[in-house]
Amino acid sequence: MRFGLEVIAEVRRQVGPDYPISVRLGGQDYIEGGATWQDVQVFAKELEKASVNLFNVTGGWHETAIPQLNGDVPASAYSYLAGKIKSQVAVPVVASNRIASPRIAEQVLLAGKADMVSVARGLLADPEWPEKARKGHKPLRKCIACMLCLDQIFKRQPVICAVNPLCGDDNQVIPAAEIKRKILVVGAGPAGLEAACTLAERGHQVTVWEKQEAIGGQWRLAAVPPGKADFLPLLSYYEERMAQAGVELILGKPATPEETLARGADAVIIASGAQPVSEVPFPCETVRVLQAWEVLAGAPVEGSNILVVGGGSVGCETALYLAEQGALDADTAKFMLIHEAEPPDEIRKLLLTGSYKITIVE
Ligand SMILES: Cc1cc2nc3c(=O)[nH]c(=O)nc-3n(C[C@H](O)[C@H](O)[C@H](O)COP(=O)(O)O)c2cc1C
Ligand code: SF4
Repeated sequence: MRFGLEVIAEVRRQVGPDYPISVRLGGQDYIEGGATWQDVQVFAKELEKASVNLFNVTGGWHETAIPQLNGDVPASAYSYLAGKIKSQVAVPVVASNRIASPRIAEQVLLAGKADMVSVARGLLADPEWPEKARKGHKPLRKCIACMLCLDQIFKRQPVICAVNPLCGDDNQVIPAAEIKRKILVVGAGPAGLEAACTLAERGHQVTVWEKQEAIGGQWRLAAVPPGKADFLPLLSYYEERMAQAGVELILGKPATPEETLARGADAVIIASGAQPVSEVPFPCETVRVLQAWEVLAGAPVEGSNILVVGGGSVGCETALYLAEQGALDADTAKFMLIHEAEPPDEIRKLLLTGSYKITIVE
């Protein structure tokens, strides 16, 4: 605490009495021997006495094993820590972490947990977030909590965003097309949809063919594993953006070579997605082999002993998805906790015990 107070005293001396100073606080370290929210309350009160004008309260420290930012973290999960600080100080307090939409921001403010909210990755995903929130404008492209931007930082690479191709180049203006063309996009996954919208916004006449009866393609599978539910709203974003940009969308339309040629488009963009490797790298007459994509699409997985071949993100996420099958779900756990139906230890055990024994080989 002494170090922080000495830093603030010196900063105040340097900037003078009228300059606002804000301090970012980890609301709780979530590390054995680290600061608890009770400790941070004491620190915040001392900082306020030392002339700090605002606190921005985040969650725990990087070293904690408890996720702080990824999709496992429920919306605004750490705003309770802002509330703990707000109850102790008179200066404004800002809540942070996983406040991805204006609706969530509003809930935090209405609940009185903070005076303001801070949005970090939301601005990488859509720099117009505050303006759209203020005016209620749509479509808003929300952060999907995929962590790509932070991976980049930790690799000392420039920040990029999985859902915003212009991230890092916000001043880039996409010019109107000099020659308007007729363009066919094959495949309505995120790549095809982004291409279609951008081309239509440039003034081209764009049609999208999708062989399924809904847009999204493999994106819908990507949204199935635990902690990835925030992937799905991106599809609503594209639906709204396509409508605004005047993209023609034809569902249930596979692209045969004949029909594609007969379409007479000036350009065809193939965005039909990847295919899983179908070869099984070992003899497997006696076991049933399923592709990860089939599992995520809901194919029944018989038996109890599962081997996942491949420890990349698809393998690990499919394993996590399977690990949750048969375990207590979040709603039931909440119900049991509130009604003290079982001791917390037993509820935790039920939450962590699924139907399958899973091994990943890589
Ligand atoms: C690219 C990037 C860089 C960040 N750098 C810092 C930093 O230097 N100091 C800090 O306290 N938080 C940093 N953060 C964390 C954010 O301030 C914020 O607390 C966090 O991303 C959670 O908010 P969000 O869910 O709105 O993104 C960074 C976040 C991102 C995405
Ligand atoms: S890269 Fe992923 S986590 Fe980062 S801002 Fe974009 S969507 Fe959010």
